[in-house]
Amino acid sequence: MRRLTLAFCGCGSRARTYAGIASEMPDRFALVAGADPVEGRVEFIRGKSDRPTDFKGYASAEAMFAAGKPADVVIVGTQDAQHREHAIRAMELGCDLLLEKPVAHRLEDVLAVQAAARRLGRRVVVCHVLRYTPFYAKVESLLRSGVVGEIVTANFIEGVQPWHQAHSFVRGHWSVEGKSSPMILAKSCHDMDLLAWLINRPCLAVSSHGALSQFTAAQAPAGAPARCTDGCPAASQCPYDAHRYAQPEGRRWLGMVYDRAKEATDAEIITWLRTSPWGRCAFRCDNDVVDHQVLALKFTGEVTATFTMTAFDDGRQLEIFGTKGVLRGGAFVKKHLGCDLVFTPHGWNQTAEKITVETPTGGYAGHGGGDAGLMATLHAELTGADAAAMRTSLEVSIQSHRMAFAAETSRKEGRTVVIETSAG
Ligand SMILES: NC(=O)c1ccc[n+]([C@@H]2O[C@H](COP(=O)([O-])OP(=O)(O)OC[C@H]3O[C@@H](n4cnc5c(N)ncnc54)[C@H](O)[C@@H]3O)[C@@H](O)[C@H]2O)c1
Repeated sequence: MRRLTLAFCGCGSRARTYAGIASEMPDRFALVAGADPVEGRVEFIRGKSDRPTDFKGYASAEAMFAAGKPADVVIVGTQDAQHREHAIRAMELGCDLLLEKPVAHRLEDVLAVQAAARRLGRRVVVCHVLRYTPFYAKVESLLRSGVVGEIVTANFIEGVQPWHQAHSFVRGHWSVEGKSSPMILAKSCHDMDLLAWLINRPCLAVSSHGALSQFTAAQAPAGAPARCTDGCPAASQCPYDAHRYAQPEGRRWLGMVYDRAKEATDAEIITWLRTSPWGRCAFRCDNDVVDHQVLALKFTGEVTATFTMTAFDDGRQLEIFGTKGVLRGGAFVKKHLGCDLVFTPHGWNQTAEKITVETPTGGYAGHGGGDAGLMATLHAELTGADAAAMRTSLEVSIQSHRMAFAAETSRKEGRTVVIETSAG
């Protein structure tokens, strides 16, 4: 097997995850370069390379690309609004891509990346990690086996989880649409991708409603100051009190945005919170992305689906209603029924079948095993004979991006939006 060389464009949270997994597959991957303005992040990835002295570090993606083709594959892990430029530049240098989702933050940029990939003949794997989990692989195989019959309609829910919402979409990188992406793209393009993949039909139209209603100044506890560190009278009751970042579970989240999260003392963290975006009151930020949104989707063959994104649940749920039975699964089923999926055939005297999916290698960490699953498949995806067979290729991902952009237009303009399917 030919080793693929990997260069990291952005060495942040996602890139470090992929670097850690790739470093455990030395027969497939060699980590050869990394670029990030934060030097310690480049050095972290150098430390994962099996040839650290040959590893080339750069202070920016631009500097890395200026030096020529950095590797066989560039892992684009910069922020959403940077993807277009970094992806196209890397492809122009002759690199294939592992491209973080979303492909880009605006539809015109997504289509520009697609056009460049086609023109340059490059392979692009988009990080729709959930497709690589044992759970969704099982759902797909059950649907394709025909046991559920023809899919008539489906209902998917994504519970972002309140703390996660506050961390990422109120205080964090994806809280202001103009600086990043709309919520339905930033968080739920995974769900659009799952719907398109599992229903296995083009989506024709979508209508959507949603709003930001909870993480606003109007909901702030009486007397809450701009920062939790300024002495909030509601701190002990508030689930978003930033002091929680110093607690063990909070440090896991902190590690995504503060590189010294593990070793820092509580006092250091509190000092950091005094000026960091993550120390702000969760009701007094500049966030404008929604905290709940619903979609009604129409697919070919009169198949329909609904989707709910809510800050106020934890985990994904699915219900798929077929002509032969109903398949239900996700976080609620797992917690309360002790299995992953329940299949209930139609008809009298039928018993529901509980289905347990093999635990992913490394457990459920990292998107239910999807991060490791993606990296385990990446080499084959990029070197396989048939580029069209790639599971999460750019071409495949375009449809779900179109669904997300259409939903956002619908939400803002209050109308059903027809989705272009032929132009893809
Ligand atoms: N697949 C998933 O499930 C998933 C989950 C979370 C985030 N994401 C996506 O992954 C991407 C990265 O997210 P993250 O959480 O790792 O963010 P991050 O902020 O931790 O990482 C981005 C890195 O890019 C660096 N950077 C900024 N400008 C740069 C430049 N010019 N050249 C090189 N590096 C530069 C930053 O310093 C930072 O280290 C985003 O697009 C995000 O939406 C995907």
